Amino acid sequence: MCGIVGYIGHRKATPILIDGLKRLEYRGYDSAGIALIEDEGLIHEKTAGKVDALVAHLADRTFTSHVGIAHTRWATHGEPSDLNAHPQVDNSGNIAVVHNGIIENYRALRQILEQQGYKILSDTDTEIIAHLIGFHYEDDLTEAVRASMSLVVGTYAIAVIDKRSPDVIVAARNGAPLLIACGENENFVASDAAAILSYTNKVTYLEDREIATVSINNFQISTIEKVKVDRQATELDWTLGAIEKAGHDYFMHKEIHEQPETLHNAMRGRLNFEEATVRLNGLTDHLDDLSRIKRVIITACGTSWHAALIGEYLLEEYAGLPVEVEYASEFRYRSPIIDDGTLVLVISQSGETADTLAAMREARRKGAKALGIVNSVGSTIARESDGGVYIHAGPEIGVASTKAFTSQIMVLSLITILLGRMRNISANMGSEMIAALESVPEKIQSILDREDEIKKIAELYYQSNNFLYLGRGVNFPVALEGALKLKEISYIHAEGYPAAEMKHGPIALIDEKMPVVVIATKDSIYDKVMSNISQVRARKGRVIAIATEGDTEIAQHVNHVFYIPAIKQCFTPLLSVIPLQLMAYHMAVLRDCNVDQPRNLAKSVTVE
Ligand code: F6R
Repeated sequence: MCGIVGYIGHRKATPILIDGLKRLEYRGYDSAGIALIEDEGLIHEKTAGKVDALVAHLADRTFTSHVGIAHTRWATHGEPSDLNAHPQVDNSGNIAVVHNGIIENYRALRQILEQQGYKILSDTDTEIIAHLIGFHYEDDLTEAVRASMSLVVGTYAIAVIDKRSPDVIVAARNGAPLLIACGENENFVASDAAAILSYTNKVTYLEDREIATVSINNFQISTIEKVKVDRQATELDWTLGAIEKAGHDYFMHKEIHEQPETLHNAMRGRLNFEEATVRLNGLTDHLDDLSRIKRVIITACGTSWHAALIGEYLLEEYAGLPVEVEYASEFRYRSPIIDDGTLVLVISQSGETADTLAAMREARRKGAKALGIVNSVGSTIARESDGGVYIHAGPEIGVASTKAFTSQIMVLSLITILLGRMRNISANMGSEMIAALESVPEKIQSILDREDEIKKIAELYYQSNNFLYLGRGVNFPVALEGALKLKEISYIHAEGYPAAEMKHGPIALIDEKMPVVVIATKDSIYDKVMSNISQVRARKGRVIAIATEGDTEIAQHVNHVFYIPAIKQCFTPLLSVIPLQLMAYHMAVLRDCNVDQPRNLAKSVTVE
């Protein structure tokens, strides 16, 4: 949610910290700040608003420091303001802390500190950490952090500097991501690799309850209980281009257009034509178990949950397995029934979503095997799951998920083929499914090439206040996803429904001002969807249909049609969602919204 970057090295810290903050701004953007150890002592500067506001605020100042920490915030405790922005400093003015996460026992700690005479100025839980460290400091910053964090209950990733220890940054993690990155005569601390990728791709992830002491040429990791940790660095294969806009106005637009390539990457090296199945390296050790499972639970949040619903259709239809899809936030607090035959699939783009991580931990605690479908390599869910499959979509910077969604569906399709071939489906059907998946990138490209058609529809409807999205079967989750995309980036109220449910309530909303987007592709339930369209038209609703190329009939029954290429029915979501992503994007641009950083939202929701 928030972003952390820290630098210690041979270069001046400020430009590197600001560059890192700009690259992390997609994670949180209601305030930003920086702390440095200058010759005159610790300085900290912070402002409400985006990183550019901080840059403007610093414009007249010159800094020479080679060590510093910085933060971009998504408010949890206290409104976005200069005072509540991070870094937070202790009363002595020696110590500065940046923090992602939530300190659950902050009220109790605050009371104790106030009784000790500490003056608490902000509404943040982070300020408490600064005072605790100040309280425990004798002559060793790492030990002061260790003593302080052992009192803290909650989630945190922190980076700390102290003017009395100018040669180190101390970092600690519990439940929120944090990494150390190594360059030549310089080291970095960051909550997300995007912050440091311009300088190095060599990263070491901290695990929960670990503390790192980072100096120019070195770093040491130990647990909070003081056990030394040796960990190999990972080399990231993300390129710098992957985190830049490459001529697009917004990351979301770039990411929508990357989908032919990202879907290709999700399949690369995984299709086994000879045996009409797929090869998924992350599952090789689990094949015996997978052949025995009797039931699947898929858990996720938001867009990833929509992908899970599509996975339910695929796995039931082709692997013959009963599937339940659960919101991770609900699953974690229920008493799910898990037995030997239950497989839990966990879907997360970031691999850090707090609810999804907690749901996975709960499932594993109850004895389930949990497999991750994750984008961020080395993320917590990827590391803590029993195995899994990376979706290889590359960094997704736009807050609204697009390319990760289609790659999640692609990986669920591959898992379906794998499990299906162990069970029901014939080699012929396996080959047919593989051939259909292989055709997807080209078909998506043909849709993207007609972006102008969607833009024209967006121009007609962007001033509407409400939208309804309808779909049936495997396209019902696409209706949910289309509605979510529209509401989160354009702030237009939108609802997704199974088309036939409309008559049980939402039909009351339909009049000439209500645009209704209907996914009406030529499939086994086409006629039923056409009846639903008639019900909308009879009440003067405006219908925008997503239909299959070659359907000559539909245009007479709707106001607008956007055609997508034909594909095997179960894989239509991979195509039908693309015009919905584009439509949401263009409406948001026309409404002058900040597409990549919608209000109140953050990429990677690491708090509950
Ligand atoms: C919507 C969106 C969110 C995420 C959700 C889960 O566009 O991006 O709904 O899908 O927060 O995030 P991950 O997949 O990172 O667990």
